Amino acid sequence: MANIIDGKQVSANVKEQVRQETEILFEKYGKRPALAVVIVGNNPASRVYVNNKKKACETVGFQSFEYALPEDTSQEELLELVQTLNEDKNINGILVQLPVPKQIDDKAIINAISSEKDVDAFHPENVGKIMIGDYAFLPCTPAGVMELIHATGIEIAGKKCVVIGRSNIVGKPMAMLLLHESGTVTICHSRTQDLPSVTREADILIVAIGKANFVTADMVKTGAVVIDVGMNRLENGKLCGDVNFAEVESKVSWITPVPGGVGPMTIAMLMKNTLTAFKKQNLFFE
Ligand code: GUN
Repeated sequence: MANIIDGKQVSANVKEQVRQETEILFEKYGKRPALAVVIVGNNPASRVYVNNKKKACETVGFQSFEYALPEDTSQEELLELVQTLNEDKNINGILVQLPVPKQIDDKAIINAISSEKDVDAFHPENVGKIMIGDYAFLPCTPAGVMELIHATGIEIAGKKCVVIGRSNIVGKPMAMLLLHESGTVTICHSRTQDLPSVTREADILIVAIGKANFVTADMVKTGAVVIDVGMNRLENGKLCGDVNFAEVESKVSWITPVPGGVGPMTIAMLMKNTLTAFKKQNLFFE
């Protein structure tokens, strides 16, 4: 039986630290961090994520401003809003919830967000900084995964770490963070040959491919740490991860549940980034 890594608890701890620091700064300077959250269209999953982000802002004592734009918003209209938010001194962080409708080029939007307010760490300047280990902002989901691994007490240095998935949001920055902590990192993807032979070598396995129950017991090493970034909705309406939890759980040493694993961490790290943005913009250095 594996130990379950409690993402809700770890996330609550991170948010509590952010809340306490926010209160201290508020008492000293009379200002609070402010996050602008932009949602375009009616994607139901995006609506849930945005609501959770706003709720987290309340929990940690931030201001949040929602900008809900209609499905047929043009790229120019969205760029105009981003520009207004870039120039607004009362806004510290800007988050445009992805995906955006198909008439909008998400790269153009990401590039337009001021790198100093890019609390998702998606702007190429911030991505470059992650590459060289000189972070302005943490990449939220990978940084949340690192917190979960740290919570197990297991050291990453020297371990074989396998990441399944090569997205810009999760897989690639995830590999960088593990590398910065001296993991021996392999990135796998849809073209990887004999994937199970690679994943069976992993001391730490991170799964972010978006396929329900994809990782089965025969694909993991006994005693491994397994982190499931997946969030899939089954036909019966239930949520499940990319890892077949029921099978894998009995074989590994640590595993994250879905829901209640990585999901809450992404939002906690977003709060941390928003606090960082606030501090930098107000020149109170740590
Ligand atoms: N859509 C899914 N995950 C994310 C995220 O972390 N940030 C943004 N902006 N959109 C997302």
